[in-house]
Amino acid sequence: MKFAKVNRETCIACGQCGEEAPDIFDYDDEGIAYVTLDNNNGNKSVPDELWEQLEDAYENCPTESIQISDQPFEKSKLI
Ligand code: F3S
Repeated sequence: MKFAKVNRETCIACGQCGEEAPDIFDYDDEGIAYVTLDNNNGNKSVPDELWEQLEDAYENCPTESIQISDQPFEKSKLI
């Protein structure tokens, strides 16, 4: 299982992740990315068929703001 979330403190709204993984990432009004699966909580597993997209986005984010874990992120802050 893989879980993902965006560090919205460091995202610079470059827009790359939505290009690489349109089924995982979207942007708020200011262009800051979030994971659409569960509102960037990182607690809902990314479907297997999207892992390749996720990897591409992860590798291409210029600020390393995409976080991937094999466990759910703690339910902490919302976007
Ligand atoms: Fe932000 Fe990185 Fe996406 S800077 S817009 S999380 S590629």
